[in-house]
Amino acid sequence: MTRRPGPLGEAAARLAAAGVASPEHDARLLLAHVLRVPHLRVDGCPELAGAQAEAFADLVDRRARREPLQHLIGTAAFRYVEVEVGPGVFVPRPETELLAGWAIARATALLTAGVEQPIVVDLGTGSGAIAKAIADEQPQARVYAVELSDAALAYAGRNLAGTGVELRAGDLAESLPELDGRVDVVLANPPYIPLSEYESVAVEARDHDPAIALWSGTDGHDAIRTVERTARRLLRPGGVVGCEHADSQGESVPALFAARPEWVDVRDHRDLADRPRFTTARRRESPAR
Ligand SMILES: C[S@@+](CC[C@H](N)C(=O)[O-])C[C@H]1O[C@@H](n2cnc3c(N)ncnc32)[C@H](O)[C@@H]1O
Repeated sequence: MTRRPGPLGEAAARLAAAGVASPEHDARLLLAHVLRVPHLRVDGCPELAGAQAEAFADLVDRRARREPLQHLIGTAAFRYVEVEVGPGVFVPRPETELLAGWAIARATALLTAGVEQPIVVDLGTGSGAIAKAIADEQPQARVYAVELSDAALAYAGRNLAGTGVELRAGDLAESLPELDGRVDVVLANPPYIPLSEYESVAVEARDHDPAIALWSGTDGHDAIRTVERTARRLLRPGGVVGCEHADSQGESVPALFAARPEWVDVRDHRDLADRPRFTTARRRESPAR
């Protein structure tokens, strides 16, 4: 594709040279941020001058040094909502939208089946993106969100204000004991990257997402094991869990659930790029023999 001349084309070329994965898209969003216009409106933009030119040049410089785009514009889009993000909180990823959509569909099915207020728990909520999307798309659900990091909790508190989501500070291992055996849907996008994959992780994530959001023991399964135990405690018989994982864990995570007699209907789901992305399972209705 021929690059447009002007600030957009120059910025995109600069970002491409710096190894940014989506240079045109990022340049466009940064320019829209500076101009305070929707990103589809930036095409006819004249040459920038004065403070706007300086602000755009500064943002392009920072992006070329691989600061995450969402940190520079201060927000991330997730399904139909937007959340504030920045240093100290994980930037929600598009692939997680599928997991959130799965939970929304489960809650909707329960409402259709006559459950008045399905209880949904988001473990390790970070910015609150998943919980906010569920509250937005299924307002009849009662949504709880749990987070350990103080920095992330500050963002989640602002992002979830006025949504009705109950935000709880604490470790997901011990969270919400008052809901034991009563929850309909548990979901989590926990830290899951094996430390051995450090070199292959994008600079934006490695240097700017908080460590507590990324790494989870040498094999990357520590937090997922905790999610399995917590979901087993929280779910009612017949309740369901969905847990995101790394591309490389499409067999190990289902196996981790299938190893426990309390789980049935264990299956893995692929993302839009056809990579293994999250595992779901259902809490057995009758006591396991
Ligand atoms: C990969 S991030 C996902 C954040 C958010 N759910 C999302 O998808 O954008 C994992 C989150 O789990 C949180 N976390 C890690 N260990 C935790 C624990 N033991 N208890 C509660 N939260 C934890 C991290 O602070 C981080 O916010």
